[in-house]
Amino acid sequence: MSTPRHGEEVGSISVRPMLETDLVEARRIFRVAFGTFLGVPNPEDFWADREYVFTRWLNDRDAALVAEIHGRLAGSNFATNWGSFGFFGPLTVRPELWNQRIAQAILRPTMDLFTKWRVRDAGLFTFAHSPKHIGLYQKFGFWPRFLTAIMSRSVSGSDRSAQQFSALTQADKEASITACRKLTDSIYAGLDVTSEIHSVSRQNLGDVILLWGGDSLEAFAVCHCGEGSEAGKDTCYIKFAAVKPGADPEKAFDRLLNACESFAAARGLMRIEAGVNLNRARAYRRMLQRGFRTDISGVAMHRDDSPAYNRPDAFVIDDWR
Ligand SMILES: CC(C)(COP(=O)(O)OP(=O)(O)OC[C@H]1O[C@@H](n2cnc3c(N)ncnc32)[C@H](O)[C@@H]1OP(=O)(O)O)[C@@H](O)C(=O)NCCC(=O)NCCS
Repeated sequence: MSTPRHGEEVGSISVRPMLETDLVEARRIFRVAFGTFLGVPNPEDFWADREYVFTRWLNDRDAALVAEIHGRLAGSNFATNWGSFGFFGPLTVRPELWNQRIAQAILRPTMDLFTKWRVRDAGLFTFAHSPKHIGLYQKFGFWPRFLTAIMSRSVSGSDRSAQQFSALTQADKEASITACRKLTDSIYAGLDVTSEIHSVSRQNLGDVILLWGGDSLEAFAVCHCGEGSEAGKDTCYIKFAAVKPGADPEKAFDRLLNACESFAAARGLMRIEAGVNLNRARAYRRMLQRGFRTDISGVAMHRDDSPAYNRPDAFVIDDWR
């Protein structure tokens, strides 16, 4: 087999849904691709304590795609369906095959998934300093807008007033999911993270923190905990959190973050990680005031340059990774 030149398309790429038998190799490629891009000493060990591939595939098998060349896995991508909003990633290609349009071959059917799901807006998180990444996604109609900060701080909370989803009866779990959906819908019509709640609950990846104010849900957070989840060792990662729009969202946001910290402490976790788009200016400022510091800055790219729910008044935590 001749080695394709830089920028030349390799022949016989096929893209198909990921199968269980692909998982180990897809995870190896995921680690080695990010490890190589970021220049870590042993790329295959990159993020060995975090899991994305197995957990995302288990959550939605139809939303995980692989590219194959001559019967060997070349890369993969995951799409996420949050109701009226969709995003994709992690997208990874074997480093020895970079710049041969494999990512683009996987992205085409990824866009078809968004069409099938009828999402109104779509986005992604990527490296703000990489012209290649930004150029690649622009080909698919995504444009860079505000930075997204992946922030963290050490844990020191002691607010035990929140409810944990895992402790509820089946009927209360269903009612809570409905309440979460209603809350996210009030921020951005049709936004629905039920799949994340199911993923955490069914795969035992963490828990969902629920803050009630009277009969209605004031705020909630979907948290991953520790190794084998998206959080990694010693960490509680807030995958998604939102506060109901209202009179004093800062107060509810504070309560929610206190509750997340207490939850993390009770689980013996030392660090809390949470991402926020910088155009969610009030939430971002509040996190700074609470001692969160940025570990990584990336950029949110939006299809058709539409802001979706990255707005100053949205008290939402997520990062679309
Ligand atoms: C990012 C990644 C998935 C891209 O995969 P790939 O198969 O090399 O990408 P492709 O060859 O399909 O597309 C690359 C495109 O970037 C474009 N590009 C490269 N440099 C560019 C630049 N300086 N300015 C603008 N566009 C640029 C190229 O034009 C190319 O498209 P073209 O060949 O049609 O012209 C791969 O490099 C990877 O796995 N990286 C590590 C993990 C990662 O960063 N994942 C993405 C996280 S958001």
